[in-house]
Amino acid sequence: MKKILVMGSAGQIGSELVLALRKIYGENNVVASDIRADVNPQLKNGPFEVLDILDVPKITAVVKKYEIDTIYNLVALLSAVGEQKPKLSWDINIGGLVNLLEIAREHKLSLFTPSSIGAFGPSTPKKNTPQNTVQRPNTIYGVTKVSGELLCDYYFKRFGVDTRGVRYPGIISNVTLPGGGTTDYAVEIYYKAIQDKRFICNLKAGTFLDMMYMPDAIKAAIDIMEADPTKLIHRNCFNVAAMSFDPEMIANEIKKHIPEFEMKYEIDEIRQNIANSWPDNMDDSAAKSEWNWKPQYNLASMTEDMLKVLSVKLQK
Ligand code: SER
Repeated sequence: MKKILVMGSAGQIGSELVLALRKIYGENNVVASDIRADVNPQLKNGPFEVLDILDVPKITAVVKKYEIDTIYNLVALLSAVGEQKPKLSWDINIGGLVNLLEIAREHKLSLFTPSSIGAFGPSTPKKNTPQNTVQRPNTIYGVTKVSGELLCDYYFKRFGVDTRGVRYPGIISNVTLPGGGTTDYAVEIYYKAIQDKRFICNLKAGTFLDMMYMPDAIKAAIDIMEADPTKLIHRNCFNVAAMSFDPEMIANEIKKHIPEFEMKYEIDEIRQNIANSWPDNMDDSAAKSEWNWKPQYNLASMTEDMLKVLSVKLQK
């Protein structure tokens, strides 16, 4: 049985990944950790540690204490906040990753690190973005994501560290809100649709981006770590896709359930410029052929589920 440490457990992905991993591997075999102690109490149903990704001695002590063999690294500053704090973004996203790579090398651990659509830039082909293509991002977030992909490949090739990862699209979820990303609008729109029946969108109509519902994002993280390593050619940067839409498409899908829903636009130039530099939709055929990647949700089924779950949650 795997003994897993999740870094960044209180975040959008971590808060749901910990619970999914505990269902599969057992409550006591998944250690949740976060820089904050005041996390969702559910994370404390199993082992929980306060951990700063920059504190190597403490992470090492936790790895030894629980005999960890696998780390999921979900610590990152996202794209829009990164533009306000580029130095901090580099220090956390790359400084933290290098710390974990060294710990993984020394203690022979497997390491999952997500990359992102943000690893692409304005000179990347926007449609059906290939697995291997131009990567010249113009955000610090993207710079850290490309660097992270290369570092993980390097540690695998040079030291045999079992590094793996996927390039996530924007992730839509209903447990923990994302913070500081460019794709966040596609989460907030559902909350506002239920609470106010109206939403002010910060990206323009016609801005297509890859998106994915959280259950598929969790499945990707678990499946790639369970994949047969002899079949993995790309290891650290698999494009994974589920759906691509623009603000008009998601609003129209919501209107099918809430006909009075209205959307207006107030463009956030920083986020719009970032979104303009990212793919419309990625080609994920390498993930499909190397480890049988297959998403379950599309825009219609995700919208139905999001509205159902949030109607209950927001009534409380
Ligand atoms: N969701 C992220 C962001 O918008 C992209 O990986 O920054």
